[in-house]
Parts: sequence; structure tokens; C-alpha cells
Amino acid sequence: MKSYHVISFGCQMNDHDAEKMHGILEHMGYTGTGSLDQADLVLINTCCVRETAENKVYGLLGRLRKLKEKKPGLIIGVGGCMTQVKETALHIKRRYPYVNLVFGTGSLHQLPELISRAAGVRGTLIDTCPPEGIHEGVPAKRASGLKAWVPIIYGCNNFCTYCIVPHVRGRERSRRPEEVIKEVEQLAGQGYREVTLLGQNVNSYGKDLDRGYGFAELLADLDRVRDLARIRFMTSHPRDFTAHLIEAIKNSGKVCEHIHLPIQSGSDRILKKMNRGYSREYYLDLIDGIRSAIPGAAITSDIMVGFPGETEEDFLATLEVVERVRYDAAFTFIYNKRRGTPAEGLADQVPEGEKTRRIEALIKRQNEISLEKNIEEAGQVHQVLVEGVSKTDPSVVSGRTRTNKLVFLPGGESDIGLELPVRIVGGTLTCLEGEALKENRCPCV
Ligand code: SAH
Ligand code: SF4
Ligand code: F3S
Repeated sequence: MKSYHVISFGCQMNDHDAEKMHGILEHMGYTGTGSLDQADLVLINTCCVRETAENKVYGLLGRLRKLKEKKPGLIIGVGGCMTQVKETALHIKRRYPYVNLVFGTGSLHQLPELISRAAGVRGTLIDTCPPEGIHEGVPAKRASGLKAWVPIIYGCNNFCTYCIVPHVRGRERSRRPEEVIKEVEQLAGQGYREVTLLGQNVNSYGKDLDRGYGFAELLADLDRVRDLARIRFMTSHPRDFTAHLIEAIKNSGKVCEHIHLPIQSGSDRILKKMNRGYSREYYLDLIDGIRSAIPGAAITSDIMVGFPGETEEDFLATLEVVERVRYDAAFTFIYNKRRGTPAEGLADQVPEGEKTRRIEALIKRQNEISLEKNIEEAGQVHQVLVEGVSKTDPSVVSGRTRTNKLVFLPGGESDIGLELPVRIVGGTLTCLEGEALKENRCPCV
């Protein structure tokens, strides 16, 4: 029996595409192997949102040369977002001629045919059609049996001026609500307790279907799925986060109190140059609206420094927002030039040293706030969905609060999949420590 190994980089949407690669390959009769060296087929699922992500792929491709020399029958396929850029696909073919197949995000569903075609030809087969339409029914083999990614909308129409994603993922295409609901019902029936609805901008869900049915309506329908405990979603674009949506979240029992709401910059001037479509004031009002409707909601963000033309004053405006919102956590990025995006051509690029200084200051302040907020959790009681036993201590389990905080608590294998009331006893920068409230455990334990 032939074996395969998939290595994936990038966001949750890519992670889920990798789960589809696993599903497709197993359907073809391949078996998974945890070891790259053992595999007869290796697929690399790439990301190109920043140069660092691309460099990881090139490093890996370089290492695969030796493996291919040892095992000439090895099939190597490279897919994902990077290969949707034509120059990159050609560069891989030229520079790494031992790669058998280059496919894109739009041809994932054709993998079986592409793999057999690539195996039968010399050199590199490139097949990267534009990402269009929706291909339902592609099997996915999910990494977890408890939590599942469920894409609801593909592509992005926002064209933030720094971002490559709309160029490699195509225009917004929403899955039909019936398909999403059916998939979530099936997952709940299989024992999944949590779903995370995925999209570059989930708030745009349904607009292209023109049925008067949007993200708020989808959340309300999914809230009724039996045996499902939690619904999460990401990513939300602030511009499309309506009062109607806040109401839907508030009225839902399963939608968790965690909103990932990337601000990118706290400066109106920079937000405009980024084409984000909102102002700092609008964003802060939105946060206030969310917090008053959904008390205790955790708010996280993506924040970028060093966008072309960003002055010290602009950066300080970002820091002020961090101070004002007090995010529970934030992903922080240094602006990175992406070929073919409008920001690439902007003249006033910020010097590297300055970008580094700014990100360090931002991370330092955000970490202080995250730590303070986690320490403040002591004494609170949270519902924790237990996900697994600690790798280092079998008497400790880990799980997440509805606010998406990682919690460690005493427990064992039998707690996995349960939602337990847990009193928080302490917090560090990245996690909380707690203990399950005994009186709420099953009386026979
Ligand atoms: N659709 C999501 C996330 C897309 S990519 C959203 O709009 O929020 C994830 C994050 O990567 C973005 O939020 C942004 O902060 C960052 N990012 C995107 N392009 C980048 C670039 N060229 N340089 C640095 N960071 C970038
Ligand atoms: Fe990129 Fe902006 Fe679309 Fe997010 S919303 S994927 S940052 S273009
Ligand atoms: Fe990267 Fe593609 Fe996601 S560029 S961030 S893997 S959509």
C-alpha cells in the first residue's frame, strides 16, 4: 500500500484544505505516514501571505532534493496559495525540477487525476486554474474528533492594499446554507462538539447568494443543531460587523463569546491607505457595542506595523487603540511587500530597523495586557471543553473556555469531550490554570 505525508503552512482555511488532501488521498487508497522519509507521496500546502511563509516552503523543497535522489519514485506535489501566483509556479518548476506536480487552491478537487497524470510524465506538471465556484463533496479527514473547521465562504473581495489573499483565493463565494447546515449536523452526529466557521470575511457570508440570508441567519440556524456545544467563527471584518449580527450572537446559546476583529492599524490615515473601509472611531464604537451586548466577550486582533508611510504618530495611534481596547491577545505582523498588491509600489517604505523597533514595542505592551487580563481571571468560573491530556503530565488535561482561553486543570482521559465548570486559579501570558468544580461532576465519579 502506498503512503502519503502532507505538510501544511498558513491559515485555518489552508489547514482545512490539508484535511481535504488527507481525505482525498485516503479515498485514493493511500495511507498516512507521520514520517516524511517513509512517504511515497508528499504534498506541500503553501501560504504566501508573507515572505517568511514562502521561505519555509523553499527550505523544505531544498531538503526534499536529497530524499528524491534516494527515492526516485517519490512523488512531490506543491499546492496552496503560493502556486496560484504564476511566476511562483514557474519558479518552482525551474528551480526544483524534481517536483512532480504544482497545483493551486482552485484545483484541489482534481487531485486524484492530477496525481496520476503527474506520475506518468517526466518533469513538472503545472495545473493552477483560477479559484472559482465551490466544490462540495470533497472528502475531508479531520485532525481532531472534537473540533472541526467548516468553511462557509471562500475568497475575498476586500482587496486590502497590502494583501495577496484576494489574488490567490479569488472572489467571495458562499456555500449554500443547506450544505453548511448539513455538514454541521453530520459533524455533531459524529460526536464533534465544536465547529469553527471559516472565511476570510465571514460577515460577507451570503451576499453573493442574494437570498436575503446572511451570516446572522446562518448562526441562528446552526444554533439549533442538536448535540453541538460550541460555534466559533473567523475572521470578521469590522466594516461588515452589523448590529444585526451582534444581536444574533447575543441571542445564540452556542456561539462563543470570542470575537477576532482585526484592526490592522489605529491610524485613520493608514487605515485609508490600507483600504480597510472603517475609521478608528467606528472600530472603537463597534468594540463598545460588542462589549455591552455580550458581556465578558474576549476580543482579539491582527495588528500590523510598518505599512508604507506609517509615521511614529501613526504607530502611537495603534498603541493607543491597544491601550483602549485591551485585547485578550493579538497576532502582530511586520508589513511585508507582496508582489502584485497596490501597496508594493508605494514609495515611502518604512526602514527595517524602525519596523522592528515598532513591533517589539507593540508586542511588549500587548503581552503585558494579555498577562494582566489572564491574571484577572482568577476566581472566575468558566465552562471548559476538555480537549486532551497534557503531553507532559497524564494527571492534567487541557481545554478551552468559550472565550477561547487555554486552561490546564487536573483530570484524565475520561474528561475529554466534556464541558466542565472550572474555577480559574491563576494565569500566565498564554494560558490559565484551573480546577473543575467537583459538585458539578457526574455524581457517580
Ligand atoms: N482575512 C483575514 C486575515 C487574512 S491574513 C482578515 O482580513 O483579517 C491574516 C493577517 O495577516 C491579516 O489580518 C494581516 O494582519 C496579515 N497580513 C496580510 N498581508 C500582510 C502583509 N503583506 N504583510 C504583513 N502582514 C500581512
Ligand atoms: Fe486580506 Fe483584507 Fe481580504 Fe483579509 S479582508 S483576506 S486582509 S484583503
Ligand atoms: Fe496564507 Fe493563503 Fe491563508 S496566503 S494566510 S494560506 S488564504
